[in-house]
Amino acid sequence: MPDTAPSQLAIQARGLTKDFGNVVAVNDLDLDVPRERIYGFLGPNGSGKSTCIRMLCGLLTPTAGDINVLGLEIPRQAETLRRKVGYMTQKFSLFEDLTVSENLAFIANIYTLTRAEQRTRIPAAVERYELGRLLKQRAGTLSGGQKQRLALAAATLHEPELLFLDEPTSAVDPENRRAFWESLFDLIAEGTTILVSTHYMDEAERCHALAILDRGLLVAAGSPGQLAAGIEASVLVVESAEPRKIARFLEAQDFVHSTAQIGNTLRVMVDLDIPDPVQLTNETVMTHGLNLDGCEKVQPSLEDVFVAATQARKAARETAA
Ligand SMILES: Nc1ncnc2c1ncn2[C@@H]1O[C@H](COP(=O)(O)OP(=O)(O)OP(=O)(O)O)[C@@H](O)[C@H]1O
Ligand SMILES: [Mg+2]
Repeated sequence: MPDTAPSQLAIQARGLTKDFGNVVAVNDLDLDVPRERIYGFLGPNGSGKSTCIRMLCGLLTPTAGDINVLGLEIPRQAETLRRKVGYMTQKFSLFEDLTVSENLAFIANIYTLTRAEQRTRIPAAVERYELGRLLKQRAGTLSGGQKQRLALAAATLHEPELLFLDEPTSAVDPENRRAFWESLFDLIAEGTTILVSTHYMDEAERCHALAILDRGLLVAAGSPGQLAAGIEASVLVVESAEPRKIARFLEAQDFVHSTAQIGNTLRVMVDLDIPDPVQLTNETVMTHGLNLDGCEKVQPSLEDVFVAATQARKAARETAA
């Protein structure tokens, strides 16, 4: 259990569970999100990220568990929470038939901003998220990146303490994703806390801490560095003139968890308790009349952590079945 005092946490959840009939979308999840940090949710499709976010916002009632968000008990005090949080949904949820300017005015009214607040905050958001040239354009005709900038402007107009972003950059090119993330760090510097779900490893790397979800279970949590240090596998980079053949051969070995080809090299995950995995790999390959051009042990990346955390469970499920 982390030693962070509850008051320093923006979100604390214990035993959070959501069943949809036969599907356990979120399964006994414990979560501690510190204030003024970016906390990431990383997980395959259907792992429960959106369901979890909707429960933390107070939009969906959990089957079981306790949630405290910004000192409020959720869902009981969800109404009070509403004004303190911003939520950018996974699917664009502003009005496609309204212009950028009309959407912002509408959202400002929803949040009952005073006229004075509207006069300062809307132009500030327009400038910050570079919407000036788009004000008269209908939201439905914006590009993916422009839509996300508008959605972020709308989600932050009432200056929320806590922001939930559900896959905010899924339709955004790399350059615009970088710009989007720089805006997130600006918000953090101003005192906001952000919980963001993503499928991108480079985004996960940028989070202060993250949780990896798989089929509703939290399978690993911590800072990217802590996660890499705690990985339950050694990672090798193997070079060969015949990477497909070597990959198939290695995958059949008991000590190998997985292989992934990157260009002409293979990234190979092997049992952590092997004392010299490079030697074992070289010997095993040679004994079978095959040859490697190189084999070295490397630092695990976050992608390795993700693969190890989600595949180890897949292997366990297959063994049990
Ligand atoms: N309203 C619902 N009724 C029934 N099942 C649901 C409902 N909402 C979600 N689920 C199921 O719960 C599981 C988790 O879904 P969720 O949308 O939370 O996953 P996710 O991690 O956000 O996935 P993605 O990366 O694809 O957005 C899935 O199996 C999904 O089919
Ligand atoms: Mg989702």
